[in-house]
Amino acid sequence: VLADTGVKVPRNFRLLEELEEGQKGVGDGTVSWGLEDDEDMTLTRWTGMVIGPPRTIYENRIYSLKIECGPKYPEAPPFVRFVTKINMNGVNSSNGVVDPRAISVLAKWQNSYSIKVVLQELRRLMMSKENMKLPQPPEGQCYSN
Ligand SMILES: *[C@@H]1O[C@H](CO)[C@@H](O)[C@H](O)[C@H]1NC(C)=O
Repeated sequence: VLADTGVKVPRNFRLLEELEEGQKGVGDGTVSWGLEDDEDMTLTRWTGMVIGPPRTIYENRIYSLKIECGPKYPEAPPFVRFVTKINMNGVNSSNGVVDPRAISVLAKWQNSYSIKVVLQELRRLMMSKENMKLPQPPEGQCYSN
């Protein structure tokens, strides 16, 4: 809907759309996002939230994330890290940084993707066989940086 692949999307126009969609809220509310600071005119620093999917080890937990949309976004993928501690493939266990090579929507980023797509993909990965039963750190802990 946002753009055909190969067509350059103006960064701020796109991020303002994402901001508006985030404020309205999507679907069942299992993922959400917004600007970290409402006064951030550069639209760079975002926070995200993912609710752990039912029938997985992540169930009933709320995961906070930080998302950084650099000057090249959405041509370049955002930088994503978990704030809430999590044990999951593709997430660095010492700082929560999501390895872009390990997450397909980041590895094969397209400018039609969005913060929402990234959060939904991370939630989907929580439900994957390789992740859904991994032992988890105690609830509520955060990475220190
Ligand atoms: C996790 O991040 C730290 C700090 O950037 C880095 O030294 C380490 O190699 C990373 N671990 C993995 C498995 O990528």
